[in-house]
Amino acid sequence: MATHKIGYFVGSLASGSINRTLSTALIKLAPDTLEFAEIPIRDLPLYSQDYDADYPPAGRALKEAIEASDGILFISPEYNRSIPGALKNAIDWGSRPWGTNSFARKPTGIIGASPGNIGTAVMQSSMRSVLSFLDAPQLNSPEAYIKFDPQVFGNDGEVRDESTEKFLRHYMEEYAAFVQRVLDANAAGHIGDQDAGSRK
Ligand code: FNR
Repeated sequence: MATHKIGYFVGSLASGSINRTLSTALIKLAPDTLEFAEIPIRDLPLYSQDYDADYPPAGRALKEAIEASDGILFISPEYNRSIPGALKNAIDWGSRPWGTNSFARKPTGIIGASPGNIGTAVMQSSMRSVLSFLDAPQLNSPEAYIKFDPQVFGNDGEVRDESTEKFLRHYMEEYAAFVQRVLDANAAGHIGDQDAGSRK
């Protein structure tokens, strides 16, 4: 399988983020064909349409990072049953100015960890709605709702429970295969990037 560049978003700005810990584990367990680079969201201003006429360097850098990625992976907490504001703000930056949506046709994966039982399921449902609108294909199966157990996850990406490790490894294998499928489909498609519908 070819090597693919994966840009990943961590939806938490917290210093002790369990989702950042999860991201470290996922990178460690992913197939060697994936290369990871974080797309930072911390320093983005709050998006406004006023920026569209002259996108600031932070907004341009974000869009370039998304566009340089073969696939995108979101690893995020759930805040108040939805997408954390910092992550949604980054997605809004990437989706604009109108007609230049950087997420169009990018293969995406959504995963998240919470101490709670539903493991970010409601956030992921919101993300699916946003990414559908942005014309970003999503890995539908397996779904991954991680109930975070600090005994299981080491800060260095170590996963101390065999079944959790197996599941996360499988998730990343399926994600890698999905990225390849979408890229193949994009390459075989007859509608060019200039198609306005894909760049809403
Ligand atoms: C939370 N938390 C939370 N958890 C959850 O399962 N569903 C939720 O809707 C919320 N809502 C929520 C709102 C806000 C503002 C905070 C700060 C927290 C708890 C959350 O899962 C927990 O703090 C995680 O540790 C957050 O992930 P990171 O930042 O550690 O990656």
